[in-house]
Amino acid sequence: MSSASAVKEDRLWQRHADMAKLGGTPKGGVNRQALSPEDAAARNLLASWAKARGFGVFTDAIGNLFVRREGTDAKATPVMSGSHMDSQPTGGRFDGMFGVLAAFEALEALEDAGVTTRRPLVAVAWTNEEGSRFQPGAMGSAAFARPDRLADMLEQKDWNGVVLKDALAATLKAAPAPMRDLGFPVASYVEAHIEQGPRLENEHKTIGVVTAIQGSRRYIVEIDGEEAHAGTTPRAARKDAFSAATRIASAMYEVTTDADDTLRFTIGRVEVAPGSPNTVPGKASFTIDMRHPRNAVLDEHERKLKEIVAARAAPCPARITRVTAVAPTDFDPAVIDLVRAKADALALSHMDMPSGAGHDAMHIAKLCPAGMIFVPCERGISHNEIENATPSDLAAGTRVLVEVLEALANR
Ligand code: GLV
Ligand code: MN
Ligand code: MN
Repeated sequence: MSSASAVKEDRLWQRHADMAKLGGTPKGGVNRQALSPEDAAARNLLASWAKARGFGVFTDAIGNLFVRREGTDAKATPVMSGSHMDSQPTGGRFDGMFGVLAAFEALEALEDAGVTTRRPLVAVAWTNEEGSRFQPGAMGSAAFARPDRLADMLEQKDWNGVVLKDALAATLKAAPAPMRDLGFPVASYVEAHIEQGPRLENEHKTIGVVTAIQGSRRYIVEIDGEEAHAGTTPRAARKDAFSAATRIASAMYEVTTDADDTLRFTIGRVEVAPGSPNTVPGKASFTIDMRHPRNAVLDEHERKLKEIVAARAAPCPARITRVTAVAPTDFDPAVIDLVRAKADALALSHMDMPSGAGHDAMHIAKLCPAGMIFVPCERGISHNEIENATPSDLAAGTRVLVEVLEALANR
């Protein structure tokens, strides 16, 4: 029996359904934010499945959760695959979770098929990929690749002032696992994920052979105004922080509208204080998420955003701060070729494509040859509770994944 034919579509689908109960929302999505009790529950469930199959389970100082199936050469550097189990506040049940469950299904399929590999195989659930609660996103994989960044990450606060190290300690207390050193050698890494865009569905392809990930940056814009009475204060005497924010934001939307619709610009979180209907806002802030395949374009637009803040905020002092920057990632040509070849061998339709979304693979690609496999999601909708994918597409992507991992683990 080949490892691909041992992939069980029903088991994979059921595992998605079981995980979707943890933080499940009425619209069928999930709210399982990083280092929440729901995240801990997902960790415990994955670990319980792993232990039932006799796989090793361990964690590290940022809470990445690893499941290890031994190879025949205990000293060989492992091949790794996985993604994340945390979600957006109104997230779908497949973003991230598919990559974790596909990696776990790959381990189970190899076990069921009685296939041994020379290298060990490790399935991983990276901590805090979404970056919606704690910044930066893709934190677990970033810390794995750069352990020197850990100390700074542990001090990050969520929007309610909870410090990451406290949330992490609570999570690891609720979902304990043996602790290993942060970061270890990896021979190669492949991540499966839903596409989160419409191209595969539009082109009637089952597999996306991912060639690259576009670069991304996040910023926060903070504006200081002056609180005043809404009924009595004339316009000329106002320092309205929100009014300045809207001037800045609308100029930014304009300057980031490109002819070929490649630059991505999003203001996703706006805060206005004190948040009283009849007080002129004394403070306003908003986040910016900006992405493009080329760093030079991001640099150019960063300069334009700074100019806008300087020019449009008066009479309110304002500042823009870069919170994170991740350069574009090109995946390894040999891994890309292998994914394409395995999709062909399984007679699955496929196309090469870059990723618009960020993924943990962008950090692990700095450590070892890496690649990604996409499967379609309904109407390309993601970061939405109605996100959907078919059991057969998920299984198809997992079949490609297990064949790729088996090949890499025998190199
Ligand atoms: C990950 O979810 C991203 O924002 O790309
Ligand atoms: Mn994701
Ligand atoms: Mn996401």
